[in-house]
Amino acid sequence: MSNILAIHSSLSGARSVSGRLVDETIAALRQAEPNSRVVVRDLGAAPVPHLDGEAISGIRGEPGDEAQVAARALSEELVKELKAADVLVIGAPMYNFGIPSSLKAWFDYVLHPGVTFNYGEGGPKGLLTGKRAIVILSRGGFFSDGPAKAMDSQEPHLRTLLWFMGITDVTFVLAERLALGEQASAAALTSAASQIVQAVETLKAAA
Ligand SMILES: Cc1cc2nc3c(=O)[nH]c(=O)nc-3n(C[C@H](O)[C@H](O)[C@H](O)COP(=O)(O)O)c2cc1C
Repeated sequence: MSNILAIHSSLSGARSVSGRLVDETIAALRQAEPNSRVVVRDLGAAPVPHLDGEAISGIRGEPGDEAQVAARALSEELVKELKAADVLVIGAPMYNFGIPSSLKAWFDYVLHPGVTFNYGEGGPKGLLTGKRAIVILSRGGFFSDGPAKAMDSQEPHLRTLLWFMGITDVTFVLAERLALGEQASAAALTSAASQIVQAVETLKAAA
C-alpha cells in the first residue's frame, strides 16, 4: 500500500487546472493501486501562513509564546504528513513566473535542518530519500523553450526545493499555453492527460 500526499496550491478552487490534473493523477494512482491512502493538503483553501520572526523562532528554536508554539505545531504536522508519504502529487500553477506564495510557505515550514535536510562536510544532504513526486505545472504562457525559458522560476525552483530534502525522483507534468486561446489550451490539457498516464505507468513499473 502507498501513502499519497496531494498538495494543491491554486487559488482558483474548483476552476483550477492544476487542481483538476492533481485529481486525475490521484485517480490514476488509485486505479493502479486501489489500497493507496490519500491525504490532501489544499494550500489555496487553507494557506500556510508566511514565515515571520515568531514562526522561525518557534520552528528552529525553543518555542516560547503562543505564536511560536503554534508555528512549531504546524511545522511538525506538515513534516509528519510529508514523511508518511511515499508519493507526492503537487499542483503548482505559475504565478508571476514562480510558484504560489502559499506553496513557498509550505516549503518554508517543512525545510527544517536536522529534520528534512542536514549540512555535512560534503554539503547539504536531503533526509527524505526513497520518495517519488509527480508535479503538475500549469501556466498561462509558454516557458518550456525559447527565450522565455530563462524566465521560468517555477520548475527549477521546485526541483531544487525537493532535491534539497532528498526527493530526486520527480516527474513534471506540464500544462502550458493555457491562456493562448482555446485550441492551445485544449491541446495542453490533452498533452497533460497523456503525461499523467505515462508518469503513473513509470511509477508503477519502478515500484
Ligand atoms: C496571480 C497570477 C499570476 C500569474 N502569473 C503567470 C505568469 O507569470 N506566467 C504565466 O504563464 N501564467 C501566469 N498566470 C496564469 C496561470 O499560471 C494559469 O492561469 C494557470 O492555469 C493557473 O493554474 P490553476 O488553474 O491551477 O490556478 C498567473 C495567474 C495568476 C492568477
